[in-house]
Amino acid sequence: MDKKIFSGVQPTGNLHLGNYLGALKNFVELNNDDANQCIFCVVDLHAITVKHEPNELKNNIRETVASFIASGINPKKSIIFNQSSVAAHSEGAWILSCVARMGWLNRMTQFKEKAGKDKEKASIGLYSYPVLMAADILLYDSTHVPVGDDQKQHLELCRDIAQKFNKDFGVNDFLKAPEPLIQKEFSRIMSLKDGLKKMSKSELSDLSRINLTDEKDQIINKIKKAKTDPLPMPKDVQELKERPEAQNLLGIYSSLNNSSLENSVNKFSGKNFSEFKDELSELLVNKISPISKEIKKLIKEQAYLDSILLDGVEKANKIASKKIKNMKEIVGF
Ligand code: TYM
Repeated sequence: MDKKIFSGVQPTGNLHLGNYLGALKNFVELNNDDANQCIFCVVDLHAITVKHEPNELKNNIRETVASFIASGINPKKSIIFNQSSVAAHSEGAWILSCVARMGWLNRMTQFKEKAGKDKEKASIGLYSYPVLMAADILLYDSTHVPVGDDQKQHLELCRDIAQKFNKDFGVNDFLKAPEPLIQKEFSRIMSLKDGLKKMSKSELSDLSRINLTDEKDQIINKIKKAKTDPLPMPKDVQELKERPEAQNLLGIYSSLNNSSLENSVNKFSGKNFSEFKDELSELLVNKISPISKEIKKLIKEQAYLDSILLDGVEKANKIASKKIKNMKEIVGF
């Protein structure tokens, strides 16, 4: 059977190296395999679960589309669309929020992290965000969902919601529980300033991440300033357990180079960090600069980006509107 691939990315400004290595790089490989039907969604409904700038949202959506294409996704092969333009996502999220249990959502670690200490002041949207994510996936009978490691728990919740819906309404296999596609290695890229923290858009310091739109000089500077430890480069993979910054930088190097962590460790074993950092910068510049240039070019082609979304919305709507119609009938509307 063909794989039905679905994934989403929030349009919250610049995408970063974590998004690229954890998700986009995988999207491109899946897009290139003719046996797959791929749908990539710009999840703008998710983007308003935290405070956002309305005037910037449209351009952030376009920039996310530009980043998809610049990374190598072919809009003629894959459906690219934005979530808020397909009403079934909001409708499906409501129905599924009546199936999901509070106890399940209370366990979501990402909500706890994002809401921080003052969770009473977090929006209800931020809390129920994984239910909307489940609707995204289930509306398309998706079989596989490529994501970074941080989305694993949300996918488990999606499977639970699908199974409970089917059981509650006696509709065996109506909602299809999807398989996560999470790379075994390098599926969690960490901050350049703290090897124990995830690389993220919400981190205040721009030095903590490489943005896909960074210029060559910015990349070199960020790697130069990236946190390391005082020891020489590790001698074996075992040593990395105690050295999170070295592990992260070697992970980034390996992922970009399509090599194993072991090979990278052996290559730089016992050398100085500065020597390794020079090679890492060079590799990053070679991989990221062409993407960065292409994003900047595409962003000026507003009409082209809008036409991709329009086409994607039409195609996505065809699939999702059928599913939501059946879902509404099942619950008795
Ligand atoms: P978002 O927008 O936060 O991130 C998009 C993708 O990038 C991955 N990612 C990372 N991977 C490795 N290391 C990191 N530091 C890192 N940071 C981000 C994420 O795992 C994700 O794959 N809820 C989702 C979007 C979403 C979705 C969906 C995904 C909405 N509906 C349906 C899949 C299917 C999110 O906020 O991703």
